[in-house]
Amino acid sequence: MRMPDIIAKKRDGERLSESEIRWFIDGYTKDSIPDYQVSALLMAIYFQGMTQEEASVLTRAMAESGEQLDLSSIEGIKVDKHSTGGVGDKTTLILAPLVAALGIPVAKMSGRGLGHTGGTIDKLEAFTGFQTEISQKKFIELVNTHKLALAGQSGNLTPADKKLYSLRDVTATVNSTPLIASSVMSKKIAAGADAIVLDVKAGSGAFMSTVEEAAELAESMVGIGKSLNRRTMALITNMDQPLGRMIGNTLEVKESLDVLRGEGPEDIYELSVLLAAHMAVLGGKVTEPEEGRRLIEDAIRSGAALEKMREFIGNQGGDPTMVDRPDLLKEAEYKIEVKATSTGYVRKMETELIGRAAMWLGAGRSTKTDTIDHSVGIELKKKVGEKVEMGEPLAVLHSNTLQPTEAKKLVEEAYSLTGQPVEKPELVHGTIY
Ligand code: URA
Repeated sequence: MRMPDIIAKKRDGERLSESEIRWFIDGYTKDSIPDYQVSALLMAIYFQGMTQEEASVLTRAMAESGEQLDLSSIEGIKVDKHSTGGVGDKTTLILAPLVAALGIPVAKMSGRGLGHTGGTIDKLEAFTGFQTEISQKKFIELVNTHKLALAGQSGNLTPADKKLYSLRDVTATVNSTPLIASSVMSKKIAAGADAIVLDVKAGSGAFMSTVEEAAELAESMVGIGKSLNRRTMALITNMDQPLGRMIGNTLEVKESLDVLRGEGPEDIYELSVLLAAHMAVLGGKVTEPEEGRRLIEDAIRSGAALEKMREFIGNQGGDPTMVDRPDLLKEAEYKIEVKATSTGYVRKMETELIGRAAMWLGAGRSTKTDTIDHSVGIELKKKVGEKVEMGEPLAVLHSNTLQPTEAKKLVEEAYSLTGQPVEKPELVHGTIY
């Protein structure tokens, strides 16, 4: 096979065969095909797209390009969840103990974050002593005994995706539906998921700004999952404003604990319960999401979810007393209000600007080697549709800098007010099975 022929075929809108896709993924992983040829192919895919079948083959080839976790010694259906990401999205922290409390095994591989806040591991490290570097043996033992473990990504999972993603980043080819879908799904498959619940975000703080784009991505990922014999479903959810009211690692942990206690903001509570209910369906615990919701809400009410969180934190070396004493989590030194300069209703929030403000405060990383400050972040006092009086706080910056000028400016810019009442936005735009 020759790379120029494969590039030309895709350039001209033809379908690539399974052997052609496998050949180029294998060659690229082994460094026998250079970046410049793969760049040309990525651009051809960007313009010509891929059929569902091509995207499935690409996913499988990427999943098989490195190690694959063998979770077959864990009893039960391992349901994973993936969110395409957004500001204030802390659902993994909530879902993991919620679903495990129902007896469904949660064997989660997570990463550190790049962007406006840390990843799930960074957030969990707000608990003193919490460890994610655990052996595969211990990981499996914990899931079999306690139904829940979370490990940092180790080993050589999906090396083809790592190389391709870096190349896409510098060749303006990130934003292609089949490339995103295969990238996400290959990682889920390699990490041993039997079933996958996807939360695809749409809006000003998301990768996909419109509901149509998010739906196309969701359809593609669900199609790939099914073709690879993984039960897969997706919710398309709103990211036109941050999820919940807390952004920043410790703040997000506190809000997650509130939800596990049955409290917390309505949107994050509702989305967590809904995603967990679908995980219960895919995990074979119930047949309908409504039944799953009942079990999940029972686990919250009875305290079983919070107890699972204590157990989980303790099992991985963290201090479980912090689950009941969130005041022990490290707080930022200064709390600085961003006040409304007029009276009105919040019409709109530029979610991305809020994310950038959290980054400025030190809650996230702009490069992999940056260190994050767990204690800083933003507490939103007002969200879309809520009334605010002039001089009332819109948000509070939790800062370790006395004058976080740039963060304040970004938050001010993020809010638009109007004199007319505004409806609260809907949380879920659609469901794809
Ligand atoms: N996240 C991924 O893992 N891959 C992409 O291509 C885009 C977002």
